[in-house]
Amino acid sequence: MFWKMIIKYVKLRNIRSYSSSIKIEFQEGRTLLLGDIGSGKSSILQAIEFALFGTGTSSESVKGSSLLRRGSKKGSVELCIEVSKKEIIIWRGLEKASTGIKQSNGYLIINGEKQAYTPVELKTRIIEILNYPRELASKSKSPVFRFTVYTPQEQMKQILNMGSDERVDTFRKIFQIEKYKRIKENSQALRSFLREKIEYSKGLSQDISEKKEELKTLLKKISERKESLKAIRESIVEKKENLKKIESEVELLKKKKEELSSIQQQLASAFSKASGLGSRASELRESIQANESEVEKSSQKLKEIKLPEVKEQELRQQYKRISGEIAEANASKATLHEKLQQVKNSLQEVESSKKDCEDAKSQLSKIEHFDIDASRRKLEEIKKIEKSLGEKLASIEKELFSCRSQVEKEEQLAEKVSRMDSCPLCKQPVGESHKQEICEKSAEAKKKLKEKMGQLEKDQSGFKQELEKASEQSALAAKQVEQALISSEKKEQLKNALYNYEKALSKEKDLKESLQKTQREIEKAESYPFEKKMQELEDIDASLRAFSEHSKLSALISEKQKQLGLAKKALEQARADIKELNKSNLSLKEKEDLLKKEIREKEPAEKDFVSQKEALSELNSKEKMILEIAKEDEEKAEKARVQISEKEKAKAEMERSRKILSWSSEVFIPMVENIEKHLFARVYNEFDALFREWFEMLVEDESIKVRLDPTFTPIIVQNGYDADVSDLSGGEKTSLALAYRLSLNQVINDVISGINTKDILILDEPTDGFSTEQMDRVRDVLDRLKIRQVIIVSHESKMESLVDYRIRVSKDSGGSIISA
Ligand SMILES: Nc1ncnc2c1ncn2[C@@H]1O[C@H](COP(=O)(O)OP(=O)(O)O)[C@@H](O)[C@H]1O
Ligand SMILES: [Mg+2]
Repeated sequence: MFWKMIIKYVKLRNIRSYSSSIKIEFQEGRTLLLGDIGSGKSSILQAIEFALFGTGTSSESVKGSSLLRRGSKKGSVELCIEVSKKEIIIWRGLEKASTGIKQSNGYLIINGEKQAYTPVELKTRIIEILNYPRELASKSKSPVFRFTVYTPQEQMKQILNMGSDERVDTFRKIFQIEKYKRIKENSQALRSFLREKIEYSKGLSQDISEKKEELKTLLKKISERKESLKAIRESIVEKKENLKKIESEVELLKKKKEELSSIQQQLASAFSKASGLGSRASELRESIQANESEVEKSSQKLKEIKLPEVKEQELRQQYKRISGEIAEANASKATLHEKLQQVKNSLQEVESSKKDCEDAKSQLSKIEHFDIDASRRKLEEIKKIEKSLGEKLASIEKELFSCRSQVEKEEQLAEKVSRMDSCPLCKQPVGESHKQEICEKSAEAKKKLKEKMGQLEKDQSGFKQELEKASEQSALAAKQVEQALISSEKKEQLKNALYNYEKALSKEKDLKESLQKTQREIEKAESYPFEKKMQELEDIDASLRAFSEHSKLSALISEKQKQLGLAKKALEQARADIKELNKSNLSLKEKEDLLKKEIREKEPAEKDFVSQKEALSELNSKEKMILEIAKEDEEKAEKARVQISEKEKAKAEMERSRKILSWSSEVFIPMVENIEKHLFARVYNEFDALFREWFEMLVEDESIKVRLDPTFTPIIVQNGYDADVSDLSGGEKTSLALAYRLSLNQVINDVISGINTKDILILDEPTDGFSTEQMDRVRDVLDRLKIRQVIIVSHESKMESLVDYRIRVSKDSGGSIISA
């Protein structure tokens, strides 16, 4: 069963001398890549290293610029390996960019599953897959690969020229001896930490015995308190029992007291009620007295009132009658006086109308007589004349107007004819004679019209004068008619006055008679005895007043008597109530006395109860106090216990730390140092032995011996003398380098367990400068090595006999080519 890595194939595209894609397959066993110098053999190996670890900047790494085929923009390597029975395909690319040649992102295909990675990630993954020490992962070169699997041809001898310090350092890293140094450093740090911890724990646990003492005294106190608490609790129980016994008696006493106070309350309320009743009774008595004296007084007064013999009703009627009489007399007197005045006034009127009559008579005699009818007739005649004159004037004016317009027409005709040339009707020219004839005729007509107008104007002025005269006459006549009217009206008035006067004269006699009659009647009315009647009325009134007073008084008396009766009854009631109250009070008093006596007898028990109760509460508070203190002590004790346990823990911790500390200084560090020494010794011894052996195998010459010094520097001794590498022949140098490399390879594979490149070895021109004999020895060495896959690059066709497979590499104008 194989778990370690072998190479299955490598595919190159635009790498160094390879142009288009080329695939080179490898088998288990030994394969020779044979070809002339510069044919493209090493390029294949470089491509394999690039596929595994990528390019780097250090002098020992593969360079992108030297890998990418000149003139190509992109190149790539695909490497197929088998590790742990898994087929893994690694792909990396190169790209030409403006800044130079860069690695592009690559990928891994593991069991057919593809995963992309950045170049750095890819390198980390592969170091993982190859199981190389992790410490070496960050390095740009991979010394394990370089020292074990493949060293480029040019660097074969370089390891011999390395500075010894650098070499030792590198080896320490490869063999992981370095980590023992770190272990020592770490354990030093742990030791100082432990020392600090011990110091701290020591401080913590120092006063542990004091704390324990403290806890002890606390516990003692607590148990003491428990004792006293027990005693207190017992006496509390006792007290409680006692109290229970007394309690019923005290309860009874309490009830009695309550009863007493209720009786006392009843008594107090009865007392106040009684006093209320007493004052009510005295009030009643007073009011009775007052009423009685009032009744007496009123009765006296009543007796004093003297009532007339006549009945009141009669007196009232008399009063009514007399007062009616008086009123009537007064009224008729007034009417009579009024009547008298009227009569006097009428007489005066008659007197004045007499005078008016005289005046009228004289006036009447003075008024002229006018014939009103004649005047009216005359006026009418004149008016008729006036009218006919007016009509005549109007007709004349009309005629004058027509004459004037005819004259105007004639003038217009004459004017027209004088200017006319032809007849407007027959259109014949008008002759001058004809014109003149017409004008003469017109002038004739005008003359006649003017004459007529002169006559008419003469008539008009005549009529006008007549009309003026007639108008004057008519005005005069009208005035006369008016005067006649006025005088007739006045006459009528005067006649009226005279008629009235006659009527008044006939009335005067009657008036004078009625005057006398009225005066007589007045005299008679004046004789009515007013004063006497008034006196009578007054007397009646006095009698009536006596009656009313009498009845008022008797009503008052009866009212008072009624009140008196009520008051007396109330007084009676009050007295009865008081009596009743006094009776009940007496029985209450008796009860009170009895209760008081009983209470007095029982009071000592109550006092006892109170004092016992106080004692109990005192006990209770004492208990509480002790409990509180006990609680505090308990807490303190708990705290002390916790502290003690912490201190004990710290102490234990300290002891443990001390043990670890002494173990580390006495056992661990010496052991680590021992392992380190041992490991180093093993590496050295194995390396040295193998180196001697491989060199002896490759070099026949017995006079040259080699070994390693403790810095892994090869020491050459020739014929018993130390010699330098530069003194050796080319073949000897190659042998030295090959022996050194192969022995180192073996040691690494032995010492570092688990690296996955134990089964593969790649050698580039390992026989440079070798004799045919020496080449045969390489076969022995390879046989001894027993490596599953060996790839050898060589230009020596003699090498063919050493291998199982051969791949021929050659070069034509297009680049390198591969053939079987
Ligand atoms: N980047 C490159 N582009 C093209 N050719 C290159 C490049 N680098 C090297 N070469 C050439 O490739 C050829 C093969 O080189 P190499 O594989 O080292 O030869 P050898 O077969 O001797 O090991 C050489 O002729 C070399 O000059
Ligand atoms: Mg080469």
